[in-house]
Amino acid sequence: MHRLVAAAVVLLLSLGAARAEDPYLFFTWNVTYGTISPLGVPQQGILINGQFPGPNINSTTNNNIVINVFNYLDQPLLFSWNGIQHRKNSWQDGMPGTNCPIPPGQNWTYHFQVKDQIGSYFYFPSTAMHKAAGGFGGLRINSRLLIPVPYPDPADDYTVLIGDWYSKSHTTLKYLLDSGRSLGRPDGVLLNGKTKSSSPLFAMEAGKAYHYRICNVGMKNSLNFRIQGHAMKLVEMDGSHTVQNIYDSLDVHVGQCYSVIVTADQEPRDYVMIASTRFTKYNLSATGVIRYAGSNKPPLSELPEAPVGWGWSLNQFRSFRWNLTASAARPNPQGSYHYGQINITRTIKLANSAGTVDGKLRYALNGASFSDPDTPLKLAEYFGVADKVFAYNTVGDVPPKNVLKAPIVVGPVVLTATFRDFIEVVFENHEKSIQSYHLDGYSFFPVGMGPGEWTAESRKNYNMLDAVSRHTIQVYPKSWSAILLTFDNAGMWNIRSEDWERHYLGQQLYISVVSPARSLRDEYNIPDNQPLCGIVTDLPKPAPYT
Ligand SMILES: *[C@@H]1O[C@H](CO)[C@@H](O)[C@H](O)[C@H]1NC(C)=O
Ligand SMILES: *[C@@H]1O[C@H](CO)[C@@H](O)[C@H](O)[C@H]1NC(C)=O
Ligand SMILES: *[C@@H]1O[C@H](CO)[C@@H](O)[C@H](O)[C@H]1NC(C)=O
Ligand SMILES: *[C@@H]1O[C@H](CO)[C@@H](O)[C@H](O)[C@H]1NC(C)=O
Ligand SMILES: *[C@@H]1O[C@H](CO)[C@@H](O)[C@H](O)[C@H]1NC(C)=O
Ligand SMILES: *[C@@H]1O[C@H](CO)[C@@H](O)[C@H](O)[C@H]1NC(C)=O
Repeated sequence: MHRLVAAAVVLLLSLGAARAEDPYLFFTWNVTYGTISPLGVPQQGILINGQFPGPNINSTTNNNIVINVFNYLDQPLLFSWNGIQHRKNSWQDGMPGTNCPIPPGQNWTYHFQVKDQIGSYFYFPSTAMHKAAGGFGGLRINSRLLIPVPYPDPADDYTVLIGDWYSKSHTTLKYLLDSGRSLGRPDGVLLNGKTKSSSPLFAMEAGKAYHYRICNVGMKNSLNFRIQGHAMKLVEMDGSHTVQNIYDSLDVHVGQCYSVIVTADQEPRDYVMIASTRFTKYNLSATGVIRYAGSNKPPLSELPEAPVGWGWSLNQFRSFRWNLTASAARPNPQGSYHYGQINITRTIKLANSAGTVDGKLRYALNGASFSDPDTPLKLAEYFGVADKVFAYNTVGDVPPKNVLKAPIVVGPVVLTATFRDFIEVVFENHEKSIQSYHLDGYSFFPVGMGPGEWTAESRKNYNMLDAVSRHTIQVYPKSWSAILLTFDNAGMWNIRSEDWERHYLGQQLYISVVSPARSLRDEYNIPDNQPLCGIVTDLPKPAPYT
């Protein structure tokens, strides 16, 4: 009987992107410009159905999410889903290297299924510098009722989107970068779209526990998040259940999400939550107010201090542990949590650098500065015309000597990874600024980080047991971070700096993972509604996977 059910599930899975019996969530998004004043001065924002930040997506494991996006902007647009794995389905990843953008005045429908990644995520516009104007919002995946999460049901569930912010328009910011300049420092920090709000953002009742999901959706700055008078019990990060340590504050690097449980165990009054910049000469912050029910006492004026220095931050990273006994929120593939016993087949070292090309500022990985071709990489590969659009493996697995001084070459950059290989990626940061890297399509194990040069000896101190499976990892100044993962998700996946200035100016590349089988078991077919552009526009569709 069980075997029959299993066979039926396998059959259904092989039929396509969605299993018919799983519930559908339908959304229509009208994306428009609108005037917002998050720093008190009116500026152009990107709104979704009139909202800034965009609406929260509240989903449950196995839900089919269908979002019909109407682009009312004057520029091509795409959304991407930070941390959603899209297994077998990079067609829905919404990066310019995987999808043709939605032209102005047109619409395109995303259709993907969320899996067992119980936790907190966000979406954002991945095109141009649109992210600087809004278009981002929270995305949560709840556990099915049958599968318990390792913490009691909270009295309420709140999303807190924090991020640095510029008062210049996304067009001006893009113009600055296109003309070779840097964005400079941001003008403020926002917390759910405001730098300081006149009315309370959240409510708590004395004695009850609340779930807060904190994501850094900003442009470049790491932020420290803390709540006056309240400790935070960490329960989840980037979709993995953690050992539930208590923290006074958390460093949230760009692209990361943390879930904490906060118990309303203080005297009933207002309390202030703060997000403030870290590792910068300037100190920008945003605040929001939590009000205890039935109280109108103003908050105390003394705010909790931010920690100082990045040693504190590194120690905090080392305190994060995966809850190996929790019943849910395992990354795919099931069972890869014994990652410490898998042999590494390849080591890729990626070192960032900054420089100029034709007098203009560029950022690079291993000396290669990415630029998007007119034909998305994934489509060029799928239609068999990759050789007309890009060359594979133009950078090596090892950075050039003296990478900070090495010449920078601009163009598309695609590394290949053998399907199902277990690979170590070492991010080397020889620069003085902190980095935050994200990999689409996967979760990985950040097994170690440390100051100075990474050497083979560094492996001796790796956490080979309970590193928290994540999708975004920071690299401290003049330091390295190492991650391990199995490249078992066929597709074309972006590996990027989450610092959007660096991303836009080339600090990103794509990893092509091809299943030699061309089988539906490993990758879904291109969706019928996929818009085509560039040189594949009029090409016949290749034979579908079977
Ligand atoms: C989107 O805009 C159309 C008209 O342009 C309107 O009919 C529809 O109700 C809007 N949808 C939402 C969700 O706001
Ligand atoms: C989100 O979905 C869950 C599960 O369906 C539900 O219990 C909860 O009330 C929803 N939350 C919001 C804010 O809609
Ligand atoms: C555009 O929206 C219409 C509904 O208004 C829908 O029928 C159509 O499938 C959408 N187009 C795409 C490419 O998703
Ligand atoms: C930055 O400002 C915030 C809010 O005023 C404050 O809590 C924090 O301690 C300051 N940080 C530093 C490093 O001065
Ligand atoms: C891990 O999760 C289990 C339940 O799934 C829970 O009982 C246990 O307390 C958690 N362990 C830690 C250290 O947080
Ligand atoms: C890993 O490599 C070691 C030494 O080469 C070998 O003995 C072992 O069987 C390998 N383990 C796996 C799981 O392949």
